[in-house]
Amino acid sequence: MADAKKLFIKTYGCQMNVYDSERMAEALGPSGYETTTDMAEADMILLNTCHIREKAAEKVYSELGRLKPLHDAKPDLKIAVAGCVAQAEGEEIMRRQPMVDLVVGPQSYHRLPAMEARLRLGETALDTDFPEEDKFELLPKRVKLARGPSAFLTVQEGCDKFCAFCVVPYTRGAEVSRPADRILREAQELVERGVREITLLGQNVNAYHGGTDGDGWSLARLIWALNDIDRLERIRFTTSHPNDMDEALIEAHGTCAKLMPYLHLPVQSGSDKILKGMNRKHTADDYLRLIERFRAARPDILLSSDFIVGFPGETDADFEATLALIEEVRYGQAYSFKYSSRPGTPAAERAPVDEAVMDERLQRVQALLTSQQHEIQRGMIGRDVNVLFEKEGRLEGQLVGKSDYLHAVHVARGDAKVGDVRRVRITGTERNSLGGVLL
Ligand code: SAH
Ligand code: SF4
Ligand code: F3S
Repeated sequence: MADAKKLFIKTYGCQMNVYDSERMAEALGPSGYETTTDMAEADMILLNTCHIREKAAEKVYSELGRLKPLHDAKPDLKIAVAGCVAQAEGEEIMRRQPMVDLVVGPQSYHRLPAMEARLRLGETALDTDFPEEDKFELLPKRVKLARGPSAFLTVQEGCDKFCAFCVVPYTRGAEVSRPADRILREAQELVERGVREITLLGQNVNAYHGGTDGDGWSLARLIWALNDIDRLERIRFTTSHPNDMDEALIEAHGTCAKLMPYLHLPVQSGSDKILKGMNRKHTADDYLRLIERFRAARPDILLSSDFIVGFPGETDADFEATLALIEEVRYGQAYSFKYSSRPGTPAAERAPVDEAVMDERLQRVQALLTSQQHEIQRGMIGRDVNVLFEKEGRLEGQLVGKSDYLHAVHVARGDAKVGDVRRVRITGTERNSLGGVLL
């Protein structure tokens, strides 16, 4: 389109936001927008935001502050805020930053074209409903643009778990699974566009129970159906909750050829007292037994998790229990965060742990997780793995991709190209990646 308007999207937060940003770009296509990676030429800047921790939420306002001069110089520039901060703060965003034209929550973005039409009339638009209708049904069919070989696909959204620290049940709403037939169709379309790896997304992805006419589909059944799609080479899923794991899903890790040997299974803490305070409804031992079952099904599975340090009431002994759990599991990779009090969540009412204590615990937990990560990476040297190549590397003539275990791997490109899955011998390890040679 010669006179296409330019849309610049900046995405914060989780992988579901990455997926949503893609869908929002597609939704605005019929309104005459195409995406740009150059903010300076944008006619609309859309921030797709995250509310999970205070720092994440505050980033939005500092970014809006930085955009102010650009907006002053170009008064026609439209500023839109989407995602979980939009959901949580709504109108407050426009009060704090009057230049914002549009605020849209994660469940309403199929209404973007109508909202954008209002902007053309010089109005503002705000929509943070949890509508009855299914946004995925009303979004345009996925556009057949060229894209990379790895894609996200949302299959389940929202959460009914109400962990005491977490905003997600309020920003994403109640847990909903998409119908299996629609997901399979979307997967097929992605594969036709060159996708070779699909990561199924959900805030509680293993609670997936989408039906086609009421016959229950579990996540395991969905994975087995995806396994039959030609030219799809790899299947992953994230994020799981320990309480929703079923035998079929565990077993699939040993038997389903395209399901990758990697599991992100957040535990948050190793202390039963803290887990109870967090409303997690499982003990540290429940979690460890679950890990054992996964390792029995797939001995080389690489494990990942999320940890929160300094949750209200966490003593030194509670924190030591978290370190002990980590020692027992041995993670290939994991995320750890300082507890951040979120308005409206039950834990926000409780007395906080001293900030300096939290800092010290975060450092210790990160040091332990990093040492495990590096030890596992060193253990990969000399081993042969499959790598799906995703893009050019940082250095001339390099290709980078992901191993089965989700390690970033770079090689001298040889005859390999983006989209290929190739056998690679690992020859070295850096901080967050591995080096190898094509076999
Ligand atoms: N739905 C996923 C991810 C939730 S958000 C799940 O259930 O695991 C990702 C991670 O952010 C969480 O696992 C948790 O470790 C962290 N997190 C969530 N709320 C937080 C808070 N208030 N303070 C610090 N970390 C938090
Ligand atoms: Fe948040 Fe807990 Fe739901 Fe995960 S399971 S999204 S941490 S409330
Ligand atoms: Fe953040 Fe919302 Fe995802 S709060 S982590 S963008 S679900």
